Amino acid sequence: HFCSFQQMTCRLAFAVTVAALGSLLFGFNIGVMNAPEQIIKDFFNETWMGRSGVEIEKATLLTLWSFTVAIFTVGGMVGSLSVGLFVNRFGRRNPMCLNNLLAVLGGAFMAMSKDASSYETLILGRFVIGLYCGLATGFVPMYLGEISPTNLRGAVGTIHQLAIVFGILISQVLGLNFIFGSENRWPILLGLAIIPAVVQALALPFCPKSPRFLLINQTKEREAKDVLKQLRGVEDVTNEMHEMKEEHRRMTQEPKVSILQLFRHPNYRQAIIISIVLQLSQQLSGINAVFYYSTGIFSKAGVNQAEYATIGAGVVNAAFTIVSLFLVERLGRRVLHLVGLGGMAVCTVIMTLSLYFIVSYLAIIAFFGFVAFFEIGPGPIPWFIVAELFSQGPRPAAVAVAGCSNWTSNFLVAMLFPLELMGPFVFLIFTVLLIFFTIFTYFRVPETKGRTFDDIASEFRVKAGMKPEAAENIQLNTDSSV
Ligand code: GLC
Repeated sequence: HFCSFQQMTCRLAFAVTVAALGSLLFGFNIGVMNAPEQIIKDFFNETWMGRSGVEIEKATLLTLWSFTVAIFTVGGMVGSLSVGLFVNRFGRRNPMCLNNLLAVLGGAFMAMSKDASSYETLILGRFVIGLYCGLATGFVPMYLGEISPTNLRGAVGTIHQLAIVFGILISQVLGLNFIFGSENRWPILLGLAIIPAVVQALALPFCPKSPRFLLINQTKEREAKDVLKQLRGVEDVTNEMHEMKEEHRRMTQEPKVSILQLFRHPNYRQAIIISIVLQLSQQLSGINAVFYYSTGIFSKAGVNQAEYATIGAGVVNAAFTIVSLFLVERLGRRVLHLVGLGGMAVCTVIMTLSLYFIVSYLAIIAFFGFVAFFEIGPGPIPWFIVAELFSQGPRPAAVAVAGCSNWTSNFLVAMLFPLELMGPFVFLIFTVLLIFFTIFTYFRVPETKGRTFDDIASEFRVKAGMKPEAAENIQLNTDSSV
């Protein structure tokens, strides 16, 4: 399928780029609090002194700081769980556009907090931008999955992660002390979030709506066909229209699916369990222990100028996401996810040894390897595979549940990891989890490369006990009277 990259038309590339600005903003906010930590803590202290006349206690400061960092993921949980409320009624593109209001609001709160001498405003801003990001992690992969041709769905889905990793990298670089990470400029750094939000809000009206939403949810056949022609750059879109109509027929047989029904109905149960475990495999791999706390970890391992090692991790992170982008349509999702998880497990063992014996160069190699293997599979794949595992009806509910699992486990790692209960051995917890996720993936996760949504969904129906002919029948019994 190498030549399938020819299907990347200008129209599709434009829509993908504009949508991915949301992912960029998500990545930016993951990384942005890392570098200016000390400076913002000083601001907390000053504000505290200004109000009460005494210095803030160390424990209170720490709590306040972790709260400021973690409230972002709480916003994310709420936002991701609300995705279904918007996309079922208003489609995919328009809610994505409106969502930028939250980003502007959040960015403005954060940027104003210093002048207002109010850390409450900063915390509020982090929460609001978290809401934005939670919604974006549902909207973007869903939109990308629904506008791409089948043969490019994985590569286009990986663009979401690619934009995230560039967002992280940009925040790491701009957060350096001599750029925006200084006492006076940190509010600008946090307020920069407004820029991609405004650009996205202005550009999205020029992007196509999801053809699948137009046809399957709204029965607007003509409009769906026009959009599809533009996206594919060809006049004949009969096959794809035909495939969408099949999905529409099935949807009229299945009532709209709620979150509870996903777990109750045997047709969806397998797929939702796989989706959740894949999100857990991404977050409980320990990746954000690196992205939130790497500078501290590298210092402990004896690395000089640890902040540059952190940026190095960001560069490796971006480079290997690009590698994955080119491999995912050739090798498939399963192989990449398995190799990624297995490689990460090996790296955690080397990390533990190098932290224990304080061998700094080995620590750097092991951490970079860990990040590289993450981006081969566990980084990009869980984000886009959920949209692939479900057809139009259950997709919004599934994306919401998966997104919320992702954000919840992200929150847990962010809160629990700094306890450093086991010293250098803390990474062995991730080794055990990674081995479990590798085994689970091997036995449970189906290959979705090059298959239509309909085909994937019917595999689950067969597994749930529906006779193969019955599942097939719905597919073959073509009726174009949509
Ligand atoms: C994925 C994860 C995110 C992590 C990032 C690192 O997007 O969802 O939590 O920080 O990868 O590249």
